[in-house]
Amino acid sequence: FSSALVDSFRRRHDYLRISLTERCNLRCFYCMPSEGVELSPNENILTNEEILRLASLFVKSGVTKIRLTGGEPTVRKGISEIIAGLNELRPYGLNSIAMTSNGLSLHRRLPEFVENGLSHLNLSLDTLDEFRFELMTRRRGFHAVLRALDVALTMLPYVKLNVVVVKGLNDSEVLDFVKMTENKPISVRFIEFMPFTGNKWDVKKMVPSSDLLQLISNRHPDLVRAPDELNDTARTWKIPGYTGNFGFISSMSDHFCATCNRLRITADGQIKVCLFDAKEVSLRDEMRGGATDGELLGIIGQAVLGKQEKHVGMQDIDVQTNRPMILIDNTGHAS
Ligand code: GTP
Ligand code: 5AD
Ligand code: SF4
Repeated sequence: FSSALVDSFRRRHDYLRISLTERCNLRCFYCMPSEGVELSPNENILTNEEILRLASLFVKSGVTKIRLTGGEPTVRKGISEIIAGLNELRPYGLNSIAMTSNGLSLHRRLPEFVENGLSHLNLSLDTLDEFRFELMTRRRGFHAVLRALDVALTMLPYVKLNVVVVKGLNDSEVLDFVKMTENKPISVRFIEFMPFTGNKWDVKKMVPSSDLLQLISNRHPDLVRAPDELNDTARTWKIPGYTGNFGFISSMSDHFCATCNRLRITADGQIKVCLFDAKEVSLRDEMRGGATDGELLGIIGQAVLGKQEKHVGMQDIDVQTNRPMILIDNTGHAS
């Protein structure tokens, strides 16, 4: 494991999230401001070759899991070549090629992605109601996402479903999502609404995971805690006898920074060591300026050493200088 990926709090970063595009075919309100975002000029977006060069460097330094994000990753042309390129890194220690997607086009495209090496899928779906879907995403497409989920369940051992819970909007559907785990290998993750530039975050719109757990246990008093994966963002629970499970991603009320193992590369090639830290370094400029792999690794190491111990807490997150989620690594929402 390269020391470049170890920070000053001894966290080892073996999980890289790569954003493939700033574009999206949905426009979820929590991910982007209503006026939209200014997209980077095309030439500023990393090329496939640049992405694969960085991926290779990170894998050879100890990264074992890569997640493709966006924007919506599937709107990037040539995504299958990227997946196939990543698949060639398996002999060097990459053992998971994952994607977070809104699923809009996956009922058609997932087979090709899985053939090329995709191994894990997290699907974003915040509501089981067609009209509410349109309200939250400002677009149509609910039925396509349900079809994508069905296709995914035939191709992958399990699927994670991301549900951002917003008070007064979709919090009434929590028990319906839990019900989906009864007969299917679905892992539902209820996510606390997080503040980003322009998303009108308000603590009053956030539903703390503890409230949801209470609500679910009123209906299912027999629920039990299930083991979490190492460095998992979610705390997982299960109803005895159910095939799937559900969990909570409590980024706001109970952050998991102490076990953080993630680094991110934005679509325009910046390394971002924390979701809530506006500080970034351009790996794109270094690559285009002729940096060698050794030099790149040195720059990455410096960035990693600058990573803070934890984010500052819900009231103090700097939404002014940080990017909106669509330009970090949300997937599935906006453009
Ligand atoms: P797994 O790799 O399956 O554990 O997925 P994940 O939960 O890491 O990623 P996913 O893309 O499915 O994101 C689910 C939620 O977790 C989103 O709301 C993310 O913003 C949030 N999340 C992902 N990574 C981080 C992180 O590093 N810090 C915080 N605070 N939240 C994160
Ligand atoms: N708060 C919480 N989760 C968010 N996501 C996007 N924006 C936010 C936010 N403001 C989620 C998406 C996707 C995941 C990558 O991030 O729903 O599933
Ligand atoms: Fe890691 Fe930053 Fe997320 Fe905390 S907020 S878990 S340090 S990325």
